[in-house]
Amino acid sequence: MLPPDPEQGHAANYLFMLTGKRHDEPNIRALDTALNLYAEHELNASTFALRVTAGTLSDIYSAVVSGISALKGPLHGGAIDDAMRMIIEIGSVENVRPWVDRALAERRLLSGFGHRVYKTGDARAVHLRNMAHSLAESTGERTWYEIAAASEEYVRERKRLPANVDYYAAPVLYYLGFPLSLFTNFVASSRVAGWCAHALEQYENNRLIRPRARYVGPRQQPYAPVGSRQ
Ligand SMILES: CC(C)(COP(=O)(O)OP(=O)(O)OC[C@H]1O[C@@H](n2cnc3c(N)ncnc32)[C@H](O)[C@@H]1OP(=O)(O)O)[C@@H](O)C(=O)NCCC(=O)NCCS
Repeated sequence: MLPPDPEQGHAANYLFMLTGKRHDEPNIRALDTALNLYAEHELNASTFALRVTAGTLSDIYSAVVSGISALKGPLHGGAIDDAMRMIIEIGSVENVRPWVDRALAERRLLSGFGHRVYKTGDARAVHLRNMAHSLAESTGERTWYEIAAASEEYVRERKRLPANVDYYAAPVLYYLGFPLSLFTNFVASSRVAGWCAHALEQYENNRLIRPRARYVGPRQQPYAPVGSRQ
């Protein structure tokens, strides 16, 4: 493992320690912006999971582990590497329409599209799209950006689903040299700042988080002894 260089900032060191190379200013700025965009996002699933754990007065490490566990699911932070796998699988701009048509016909989940809260668009995706575009130009590897942009447009047209933060963060990380297996880890390493702030806020004014459930099933069921159940 490479030790950090104390002369460099967090994003520059992150890239340096990950890739073993010194990156130029646009790459460092792209990673820094991505880190900031991911740092905190209200009561998303992982932050809520962390709050529930912190609310039992469990320690902050356990609370962060709860956040990580919720984050890794493919409907949350796990969507980011799936989004890049999808872009790679599409492979060319010409294949965008047939690929998306087939995926929708098969009712496949399109990772990086849709959001539980932002139904008309995710403001973070706009910045990441611009960064993916700049990195496509500076690296000369335009294909990934072009496939991503064409797919975004066609999915919006076919399904009215906007791209979310993970969609364009995926090519940004890919251009910066992250392996796919570390994409979700990147999200966790940014979100840990927001998670810890939430945990401290929870401890400062704590009350156990205990939602109730409402039973909606059939009532007055006759009791059947275990041996006679189907
Ligand atoms: C984020 C997500 C869980 C939100 O789910 P949701 O709020 O329950 O979704 P909606 O109620 O808006 O879904 C409306 C319709 O679009 C479909 N849909 C939503 N997101 C979709 C996606 N990414 N791919 C395909 N279809 C999708 C739903 O299946 C539903 O279809 P239906 O009306 O035919 O049943 C969902 O969009 C998703 O799974 N996205 C992919 C994973 C992802 O990128 N996660 C990161 C989020 S930041």
